[in-house]
Amino acid sequence: MIDLHAHILPGIDDGARDLSVALEIARMQVADGVTVQACTPHIFPGAYHNSGPQVRQLMSALQLALDEHDIALALVVGADNHMVPDFVAQLRSGHLLSLADSRYVLVEPPHHVAPPQIEAFFFGLLVAGYVPILTHPERLSWIGAHYEVFKRLVHKGVWMQITAGSLTGEFGKGAQYWAERMLDEGYVHILATDVHGTKHRAPQLRLGRDLAARRVGDDEATHLVETRPRAVIDDLAPSKVPVSNALSEMRNVEVGREFGDDGGSNFTKPDTRPHARGDDRPAGSLRSFAGRLRRFLD
Ligand SMILES: [Fe+2]
Repeated sequence: MIDLHAHILPGIDDGARDLSVALEIARMQVADGVTVQACTPHIFPGAYHNSGPQVRQLMSALQLALDEHDIALALVVGADNHMVPDFVAQLRSGHLLSLADSRYVLVEPPHHVAPPQIEAFFFGLLVAGYVPILTHPERLSWIGAHYEVFKRLVHKGVWMQITAGSLTGEFGKGAQYWAERMLDEGYVHILATDVHGTKHRAPQLRLGRDLAARRVGDDEATHLVETRPRAVIDDLAPSKVPVSNALSEMRNVEVGREFGDDGGSNFTKPDTRPHARGDDRPAGSLRSFAGRLRRFLD
C-alpha cells in the first residue's frame, strides 16, 4: 500500500515528536503493509511556518535514518497545504509542495469555517493544471451543510481523501458517517492514515482498507490505497486513473443526457429524414406569402 498523508517528519508540526517516534511510525507502517510513504507536514501560516525546502531536507534526513535502521519504507515529499489565497503562486515558487512533485496536491480546508470562495479556489487550482486532493472532508465540521459543494467539486475534477481512522470510528460518529456515505456514493479517491503518532492517531491503513472493502468491494479498496496513490506518484493524468463505479455510472448518465438519452429512459433516436418534423412550416409560410401577394396585387 501507499500512504499519501502522514505527519511523520520529526519535530516540524503536531506529528512525530522526534526521530524515535518517526522511526516507530515507519516500523508500524511497514508492518501494516505500507511500502511508500508521503511525508506531508502542515504548511499553515500562523500555526506551522514550514516551507518546501525545509520539508525536502527533513525528508532526505529521515530516509537516511530509515536506511540505516533497515526499515524498508520509501519516502516521497509532500505537504498538508492549508488553503491560502495565493496557493498557486506558492506552489510554483516551491514554498508549498505537491505530492512527489506531481500535479496532485493535498489541500487542507479550515476545519470549522466553510471558506466563502471554496469552489473558485479549487477551480483556480484545476485551471493551473493541478489536481487538488481535498484532505479529510469527512472530518470538517461544516460538511453537513455544504455536502453538495463537495459533490460538485468532485464532478469538476477535485479528488477527495478520507482518513482510515474515520472508518474505524476514531474521529467520532460524525466523521464515520460522512466517510462511509462518501464511499457509498463514490466520492472518495484516496484513503490515507494522516498519522500523527504511535498511540493517538496511529497508522491503521490496512484496517481502514478492509473496512472500506466491505462497502465498496475489494477492487475499489485496492484503488483507494494502491492504484490511485501509485498514479499520483507516477503523475498519471486523472483520465488514466480508474474512478469509483458510482462515479463512473453518474458520468455515463451525463454523457447520455448530452445525446438526448435521459439515463436510458427517454431516449428517442433523432429522425434525420427530410421534413421529418412533420409540420408544414416552410410550405405554410410560402402559402401565406402568396396570399399576401395576391391581396396586395388585388
Ligand atoms: Fe494532516
